[in-house]
Amino acid sequence: MTQPLRIGKHLVRYPLIQGGMGVRISAGSLAGHVAKCGGVGLVAAPGIALNSGLYNGRNYFQADAAAFKAELAKAYEIAPDGIIGVNVMVALSDYEQLVKAAIEGGAKVIVCGAGLPMNLPELTAHAPDVALVPIVSSLRAAQLIAKKWHKTFHRLPDAVVVEDPDTAGGHLGEKLEHIGTGEYDQYATVRQVKEFFRNEFDAEIPIIAAGGIWDRADLEHALAEGADGVQMGSRFVCTEECDADDAFKQKYLECRQEDIGLIMSPAGLPGRAIITNQEEIRQYDLDHHTPCRLGCLKKCTYKETGERFCIVSALDRAQRGDTETGLVFCGSNAWKADRITTVQAIFDELFG
Ligand SMILES: Cc1cc2nc3c(=O)[nH]c(=O)nc-3n(C[C@H](O)[C@H](O)[C@H](O)COP(=O)(O)O)c2cc1C
Repeated sequence: MTQPLRIGKHLVRYPLIQGGMGVRISAGSLAGHVAKCGGVGLVAAPGIALNSGLYNGRNYFQADAAAFKAELAKAYEIAPDGIIGVNVMVALSDYEQLVKAAIEGGAKVIVCGAGLPMNLPELTAHAPDVALVPIVSSLRAAQLIAKKWHKTFHRLPDAVVVEDPDTAGGHLGEKLEHIGTGEYDQYATVRQVKEFFRNEFDAEIPIIAAGGIWDRADLEHALAEGADGVQMGSRFVCTEECDADDAFKQKYLECRQEDIGLIMSPAGLPGRAIITNQEEIRQYDLDHHTPCRLGCLKKCTYKETGERFCIVSALDRAQRGDTETGLVFCGSNAWKADRITTVQAIFDELFG
């Protein structure tokens, strides 16, 4: 029997967070269904305006906030009492605005990665019941965040996601040259972060393991190794409820283990993705002579110099079904997907 998970004021029936997946891979539908099944469902912020019907070519940031709230509303329609939250990347230009929009939209949990969310308690001070959850890939990052939050805001994280750069999908919190070398030990990091909060603050903070968790054996392994819960992303892509186009899901079904690898994102972070169409992604921007239109990231080599590719539009194209020139982010285990299933069937397998 798995234990429920307490995150701040919220009790989650099963110790599972569905990882935020941008662009629009986890929006209102997936997040709502995961919450309905008893996990934490997260709407991912990056590029949420795109393909929302609210972006008119000129109002990206305004549409981003409005679309974020609309997806939260959609999720709450599916799971009115569910634990529904958001994932907001710190690297986004409108990070602060999106955190505020999430609170207005009723998010119960805010998960932040791709940067250190140093001022998150300040941004959310008016909503103290909203649980705050940073994503880290090292003890050091957890320490920096916790010490700053404790000293300046008299608050600690309500949980911490420890994301394994060797397996997780999307942007990764480790330098490219250190990934896949064997030097990173996921569950040692989980236990170190847990111990740090115990020793330094006498606090029992739930530590959530993310990356490469696919089936019940992986879940049980994570719990046995000291995690209080898991965050799973890729496993939820091949579900009827996932917000991506069928062609995106099909890429997961078709890909082989050797098709999954690392790319360098224009955001300056490595990312894990299906890497068979790298040239086509870049060629799309060259063919269309598209300079950065949106300015969606605070730092981006494409925005600054035209180098690499526009990541938000590459992710958006894939989400809409253009997997030839679009970027398909995925975790190292995505090749294991062999059918389209339902969120409920995954919960039954994991917890039934
Ligand atoms: C398609 C895709 C998009 C993702 N987008 C985001 C994102 O926008 N923000 C974020 O913090 N993590 C993102 N991630 C990471 C997931 O939330 C999750 O932590 C990670 O994928 C866990 O590994 P798994 O996919 O092996 O379960 C993404 C992952 C995938 C597969």
